[in-house]
Amino acid sequence: MVDEQILNLRRQRETERRTGLLRPLDESRGGLRITVTSGKGGVGKSNFALNTAIAMAGFGKKVLLVDADTNLANLDLLLGIAPKYNLADVVTGNKTMKEIVFPGPGGIDILPGASGDIFMLGLDEQVENRLLDSFTELEEDHDVIIIDTGAGLSRQIISYAVSADDVVIVTSQEPTSRADAYAMIKIISQHRPTLPIHLLVNMVRSADQAMDVYDGLNLVVQTFLKFSVKYLGYIPFDPNVMASVATQKPLMIEHPRSSAAVAIRMTAHKLLRGINAPPSEEKESLLSRMFNARERDVGR
Ligand SMILES: Nc1ncnc2c1ncn2[C@@H]1O[C@H](COP(=O)(O)OP(=O)(O)OP(=O)(O)O)[C@@H](O)[C@H]1O
Ligand SMILES: [Mg+2]
Repeated sequence: MVDEQILNLRRQRETERRTGLLRPLDESRGGLRITVTSGKGGVGKSNFALNTAIAMAGFGKKVLLVDADTNLANLDLLLGIAPKYNLADVVTGNKTMKEIVFPGPGGIDILPGASGDIFMLGLDEQVENRLLDSFTELEEDHDVIIIDTGAGLSRQIISYAVSADDVVIVTSQEPTSRADAYAMIKIISQHRPTLPIHLLVNMVRSADQAMDVYDGLNLVVQTFLKFSVKYLGYIPFDPNVMASVATQKPLMIEHPRSSAAVAIRMTAHKLLRGINAPPSEEKESLLSRMFNARERDVGR
């Protein structure tokens, strides 16, 4: 029994060492743009993005959460909020970016996306410049921007991903989810090989199970793509997540001590330290990267 405890402690230390959790939160860098995406749908992206945003706000960061899932109302559903305006109103010139941002729970700001492929459309230069200017202003107002996308290999999702500073790919341990995560990693890494891609394993029973998922997937990635994915961490399967979805109240606020909330705080802390981030190469605005990505015809 004691041996087993020591073994568990060793495993925990090893995980902490590998995930960098032992380092203090004093190296945080501002202006982080993180895209949360997945190959397969329904793996927990929106819950992760929302609660990570709230956790980071709890660490004193000013966070903007962008709802970029254009297919289904996403964060609206998790929060029971129906925003009146969205990005489409900014494109038409009806509203500015700042005007459509609304205050979310835990002190975060939320930017509602628009349905349709707005950034993939050929916007005229004047509109593009207006969007760039107003988004740059928003970026300057926030330490962290978290973009919650839909799932899958659409050109729009890929362009959100390749435009960020860091990408978090969420997967469960299911083989279909892992296979789709691989497909996503392949496309993103081919478009921007220097972009750090982090794997977040959701709904697992143990740290070991998450590590197995990571090790297995990363081995395939290293072998076939000559690339390496970083291990961000895991979120245990936790009925409190489902309860929060049902009541439309964020887990981080309703069940801050639940196992899933604790895990999300740890990964939020780790992302904030940006331990895996490269020195910021070109500090180009997220939106202008997206426009450039469109020009490079991302996802084709
Ligand atoms: N750690 C967890 N433990 C238990 N259930 C979870 C966990 N994470 C997510 N879920 C469940 O999975 C469901 C889907 O989560 P979520 O909406 O965040 O996924 P998604 O990846 O954003 O989906 P979509 O691809 O449709 O945008 C939630 O409603 C919740 O019931
Ligand atoms: Mg979602």
